[in-house]
Amino acid sequence: MRVAGRIRPPGDKSITHRALMLASLSRTTVLLDGALSALDAKSTARVLRQLGAAVGPLRRGEAVSVRGRAWRQPAGTLNCGNSGTTARLILGCLAGHRFEARLTGDASLRRRPMRRVTEPLAQMGATIREEAGDGLPLSIRGGRLAPFRFVSPVASAQLKSALLLAGLAGGVPVTVLEPAKSRDHTERLFGYLGMDLRVEAGEISLRGPGAWPRTEPFDLQIPGDASSAAFLVAAAILADGGELLIEDVGVNPTRSRYLSVLERMGACVKLERPREVCGEPVADLVVSPADLTGTEVEAVEIPALLDEVPMLAGLAARAEGESVFRSVGELRVKESNRLVLIAENLRAVGAQASVDDDDLYVVGSPGPLRGRVETARDHRLAMTFAVLGLTAGADIELSEPASAAVSYPGFFEDLRLVTGQ
Ligand code: S3P
Repeated sequence: MRVAGRIRPPGDKSITHRALMLASLSRTTVLLDGALSALDAKSTARVLRQLGAAVGPLRRGEAVSVRGRAWRQPAGTLNCGNSGTTARLILGCLAGHRFEARLTGDASLRRRPMRRVTEPLAQMGATIREEAGDGLPLSIRGGRLAPFRFVSPVASAQLKSALLLAGLAGGVPVTVLEPAKSRDHTERLFGYLGMDLRVEAGEISLRGPGAWPRTEPFDLQIPGDASSAAFLVAAAILADGGELLIEDVGVNPTRSRYLSVLERMGACVKLERPREVCGEPVADLVVSPADLTGTEVEAVEIPALLDEVPMLAGLAARAEGESVFRSVGELRVKESNRLVLIAENLRAVGAQASVDDDDLYVVGSPGPLRGRVETARDHRLAMTFAVLGLTAGADIELSEPASAAVSYPGFFEDLRLVTGQ
C-alpha cells in the first residue's frame, strides 16, 4: 500500500469546543474558521443554542458564525451526546449562571465520571443534583461563586477547563494546580482573548476578566486536529511507499508527544512551516514509511498523548519487540474502557497485548492482522483498527465504523484519498 498526497485533517476538537463556548459567552459576533463539524462539536453547538447563543450550522469546510448573548435557562435537558468535553466544560460555564439546567448524554457518556468536575464546582458555590450517582443525568444550579484554589488529583484538561470557565462565567479568580500538565488550549485561548491568566510554576491562575467579554466582532482560526492527524501519520508510516503531506496540524507540545514517541520508534515525521495561529503552534507534517521498534512510553508522557494511545498501541503491534505504555488507567473512563478494549481487540486480530494494573503491553509481530474487532462505538478505536486494516494481508472487520464521525467526519474518504483505493 502507498500513502501519498496532501491532506488537511479536520479542525481541532478540543479547540472547537472551547471556541464555541467562549464565543457564546461573548457579547459579539465571532467567526470561527476551521472549526470541526463532527458530532461532538455539533453536541456543543446544540447545547449552546439551547442556552441562548446564536450558533450557525457546523458544515465541513465552512466558517461558523456565533453570536454571544446573556445565557438563559434552557427549556429542556441539555443532551451532550457522546462528548465528555461538552458535558464537563458546559458544567463549568453553568456554575457561573444562576439558573438550573439538566444535562444528559448517550449511554457511553452517562457512564463517565462527573464528580471530578461537579465536586469542585460545588465547593465554588454551584448546587448539583445527581440522578444516577457519579455520572449523568444531573442538574446544576449556578450560584454566587467564591474565589477558588484547587489542587487537582488528575491531569485532566476537561476538569481544569471547567474550573477556569466557571471562574470566567462567575466573575471570580480561580487557581488550578495539576499533577502533570494536561493540554493547555483553554489557557492559550484565554490569553489570546485578553483575559488576565498567568501560568507560573505549574499554577494556572485566572486573576480577572481582563479585556473580556469582547464586544467587538472578532475571528478565530482553528488548526487541524493533532489527534485526527495521528491516524493519517500512522497510515503513512505503515505504508510500503509514498510520502504524505498533512497540512495545518496543531503541534501544541501538550498534544504532540506522540511525534516524539514515533521518532523513538524509528519513524521520520518532518515538521515544516512552523507558525502560530491564534496562540496555537501549527505546522505541516511530512511522513514516509518506516520500520518501527518497540518503546517504553513513560507515565510523565501520557497526558500529552492520551488520545493517541490507541493508535500508538496499534503501531506497536507492527513494531519489532515489546512496547509498554505506563500508567494509562485514565483510558478506562474514556468513550469506552479503552485500556481493556485496545488489548482485547489487538488480540482479536492476532497481535499480542495485555494489561497489567494500569500498564499496557504490546508485542509487535509482522504477521497479517485478521479478525473482527468490537470497538464499542469508540471513535478512536474504530479509526485505529481501520488504519491497521490497511496493512499487508490484513482483514479486519469493524463492529461499527460509523463512530469515526464523532471526531473525524470524512475519515474513510480521506483514507481512500491518501491510499488511492
Ligand atoms: C480533552 C481532554 C482530554 C481528552 C479529551 C479531550 C479536552 O481528556 O482525552 O479527548 O478537550 O479537554 P482529559 O480531561 O482526561 O484530559
